[in-house]
Amino acid sequence: MYICICNRVSDKSIKASIKEGATTMRELYKKHSIGNQCGKCCGCAKKLLNSELIKV
Ligand code: FES
Repeated sequence: MYICICNRVSDKSIKASIKEGATTMRELYKKHSIGNQCGKCCGCAKKLLNSELIKV
């Protein structure tokens, strides 16, 4: 499933980044450029980040 349609970033690639150590939206932004166009993905990406961090 795409989290960021503008940049074609999937939930899988975001989850992979979190497994590799990303813990903040800033890190996800740097790596995937999520939110740099329409910004609609930010809420979804944040939810995904929080739910994945709980598992770690
Ligand atoms: Fe991510 Fe538009 S969906 S910037």
